[in-house]
This record gives sequence, structure tokens and C-alpha cells, in this order.
Amino acid sequence: MKVFLEQVQVMHRKQLQTTKPIWIQNAAQLITLASDRKGPRVKEQMSELAIIEGGSMWIEDGVIQQVGTMQELIKTCMPRAHEAQIVDATGKIITPGLIDPHTHIVFGGSREFEFEMRIEGKSYMEIMNAGGGIHATMRKTREMSEEQIYNETAYRLDSFLKHGVTTLESKSGYGLNVETELKQLRIMQRLNNKHPIEIIPTFMGAHAVPEEFAGEADAYIDYVIEEMLPTVTKEKLAVFCDVFLEKDVFTPEQAERVLMAGKEYGLIPKIHADEIVACQGAEIAAKVGAITADHLLKTSNEGFEMLAKNGVIACLLPVTALYLREQPARAREMITAGVPVAISTDCNPGTAPTTSMLLAMNLACITMNMTPAETLCAATYNAACAIGMEEKIGSLEVGKQADFVIWDVSNYQKMHYVFGVNHVEQVWKKGAKVVG
Ligand code: NIG
Ligand code: FE
Repeated sequence: MKVFLEQVQVMHRKQLQTTKPIWIQNAAQLITLASDRKGPRVKEQMSELAIIEGGSMWIEDGVIQQVGTMQELIKTCMPRAHEAQIVDATGKIITPGLIDPHTHIVFGGSREFEFEMRIEGKSYMEIMNAGGGIHATMRKTREMSEEQIYNETAYRLDSFLKHGVTTLESKSGYGLNVETELKQLRIMQRLNNKHPIEIIPTFMGAHAVPEEFAGEADAYIDYVIEEMLPTVTKEKLAVFCDVFLEKDVFTPEQAERVLMAGKEYGLIPKIHADEIVACQGAEIAAKVGAITADHLLKTSNEGFEMLAKNGVIACLLPVTALYLREQPARAREMITAGVPVAISTDCNPGTAPTTSMLLAMNLACITMNMTPAETLCAATYNAACAIGMEEKIGSLEVGKQADFVIWDVSNYQKMHYVFGVNHVEQVWKKGAKVVG
């Protein structure tokens, strides 16, 4: 199952590594999220941040070599201090690089006119059924050249990086034909080779039924399975397979069919579940063995039990709920039920046009009553689990990739509390400073 993931990671090998060792010194809080436990964190585990006050790290070859207090590291690092680049983090906090496990960043055009229509009272589905929504972006994505979309996506990635994101998942699904789905996925592959952000690609051919298949969702699903999946996987362009299971989009049967077919080709299932109407999203996620079920605005308590029992990670998207003026996901009940929670921006041109994970984190606190500690876990370690990468990223531990952010605040509560402000001071990817 992890074969594609490893191949994608190997491709992210830009000249990021610095030759000198790096010695990070004296952070007010080094928020490591270190733990001996494996797998996603649940319940009170989500609040265990393993904070080191006066924290320090020694990094070499893009990998964390030592983590501890300044006093602890002085003993071992002092003899080599002259070789190292010293980074003083006095008064600042350091977290693992933020991980965004659900985005739709590769697209053409933008949809500010729909934003106005929604303000005037039209619903997301009314706009979509009138030819707007995903279809409007599909038309632009088909029309625009690969170069143009590449450049616009690179711009969005720069913005993610400036907001502290060092790895993200990105979905296709605005092509809805073989040619344009491939165009989107190839753009991700090219950017993964060029941009400091690591991109984990998801194939989402089943994002909507395109106009040429109008009224024939089953035939479109056949096309996704028979034409798209073999090509996408032959070129090793995706790690995950996702589907928009929603009333008037795809039924539970169609969603199951596409995810099971994806699995046969080695793609790990993910699912857009119960976003607007309850559609057995959690049930299907459990049934197909999805790594995450995303949105979950309308999921029942029984659905939560099912997710918990099957270890499916709930990927919650508070920006989208707010933007659609829907009730937020019931994160507290999910956490109590033992569901591991991750959060994400859902960055897309229709329901969440933002590149700020910090905004999603702040909204997780304000609208879903998650604590700042739970939110931080949901945006780092549990988010790494949501893309199958927790062995490499998501916490600051010896042997892990040196992906981290230095924030211009003195404690982690403050980065969630003072909102609408980008607190990022420096971003480091694989031991190289990429922002600041
Ligand atoms: O996650 N729900 C489906 N996909 C996106 C929205 C896509 C769009 O409107 O362009 C979402 O909300
Ligand atoms: Fe989405």
C-alpha cells in the first residue's frame, strides 16, 4: 500500500539540504509532540504535546540528530559549535512544520462571483446545479495551459509555505476527463520536484459528474475506473483515491465502487463524507478501510463509533463549514468517541479559498471547541497520520525530517488566540531555511 508514497517522497529531493549542521537554541517552547506510541492520537493523547522549555535541536543532513533542553545539548554540541549555523529562538516557540492533509490547490480561474451569489442567499448545491461550482472550475482547468496553472499553483504553494505548511496533500478532480486529471497530477509531480513543500497527490476523478456524462453518473464511474485509474497509477501519479460522496453527486454504492477499484490499483481510500447531507459517509469509509473520512458535518453518533472502531481519521475542515455557513463538525463528540482528529484548510476555489492553516486552527478552537493543544496535534502529528507520513514528519524527534516552524509568540496558546495574524517567523524544510 505504501509503495506509491515512498516513490513520491523520493522525488522530493530538491537541493534543500544545507552542508552545515544547524543548532537551534533556547526556544521558549519546543513543541515536539514526541511519543513512543504509534498511529494517530486519540482522546487525551491529543493534548500531550511533549513541550521542552528552553528547547534546543541539533540538525544534520536535513534530519534531527538531537532534541533536548539547552543545558542537555550544550554538553554534546559545544565541541562542534564552531561548525554549526546557530539559530537563536529565545522568546519564540517551535512546532513541527504544519501539515495540510486535504487540499484542492491545482485549478484554473477563481470563483469570487459565486461568493457574491452565496452572500445573496444561493446555496452551494444550487450554484453547482446551475453550472457553477466544481463545473465552473473544471471548465477553466481544462481550458488553461499546464504552464499557467503550474504558475498559479506555485504561487498558492508559496503562500502555504509562508503560513508554516511544509507538507500537503493535493487532489485532482477539476479535470474530470483523462487528459485534464493527468494535467493536474503532473503539475503536482513537477511542483513536488521544484517547490520546498512536499506534495502528496490524491486522484479524485470522482469529484463531480462532468457535463458530457450529465445524468449518467454510473457510466462516469465506469469511465473513472476503466480509463482514468489505470493511466494514473501506471504513471505513479497518486497515492490516495478520493470521492465526493454526496446527495446529487455520487451515491454510497458509486463511492464504494470507485474506492475499491482504486485499492486494487494500490491507491489508499479517502472520502469526502457527509458534508452537506448525511450520506452514510462514515459507514462507507469504515467499509472500504479509508485512511480518512473528511468533512463529516452531518455524521451521526453511530457514524463516530464506526470511525473510532475502524481507526479512520476524521479530517475536519472548519474553514469550509464557516464559508458554507453550515454547523461546524462535532469535533468534541468525535474526540470523546475516540476518533482521531486531523484538521485541514480544504483550500479550494469554491468553499475554502485560503492557504492559512492557522486560520483553520483558530476556527477549530472557536467553532469546534477544540483546545489549542488538540488543534496543534490535529495540524501536525495526526495530520501526518492522515497522509501516511507519521514515521517521517509530524513531530520533532531524533531521526525525523527537520521540518519545523519558528513562531513569533511565546507560547502555543497565543498562536491560536491572537487571530487573523500570520505569526510565522521562520520555516525550515529538511534542515534548510525556506522562509524568514
Ligand atoms: O471539499 N466537496 C467537494 N469538494 C470541495 C469543494 C470543491 C469546489 O467547490 O470547487 C470541498 O469542499
Ligand atoms: Fe475537499
